[in-house]
Amino acid sequence: MMNWNLLLAGGSLCLMLLLASAAAGQETDRVTGLAMVEGWQAVQANCTECHSTLLITQNSGSRAVWESRIRWMQSSQGLAELEPELESRILDYLATNYGQKQASRRAQLAPPLMPENPYPIN
Ligand code: HEC
Repeated sequence: MMNWNLLLAGGSLCLMLLLASAAAGQETDRVTGLAMVEGWQAVQANCTECHSTLLITQNSGSRAVWESRIRWMQSSQGLAELEPELESRILDYLATNYGQKQASRRAQLAPPLMPENPYPIN
């Protein structure tokens, strides 16, 4: 007789392993450095003509921030209009994979840890 519990346990274990490996090892493209998930090829095809993808992968921002960057490039850097559906796919990709960070700078040093100020304070 078939042991359904065993089958079910085996199934969930497989799913857990699958999810764990997906979360742990997000693959990046060797050439562009882009995270290889839904939408990355749209970015590769439309965003690498004028500058390195480092400008993209080292940046971060909400969807609105990414949209403002695209508008800025369109109004001043010669980026062409993008089909709305394509633009939406690119924005989803950017906001999901290069989203707003909490903070990107370390906290300031406490005054006693700072070097002496060589300039006279008036
Ligand atoms: C027609 C040329 C062109 C294309 C195509 C292009 N960009 Fe740019 N982009 C520029 C220029 C020029 C700059 C300014 C580069 C610099 O400061 O050295 C820039 C700067 C940027 C920056 C940095 C902005 C900042 O605040 O410093 C980001 C991020 C960026 N681009 C993302 C993208 C994305 C995403 C796409 C695809 C939708 C794209 N670019 C496609 C021309 C382009």
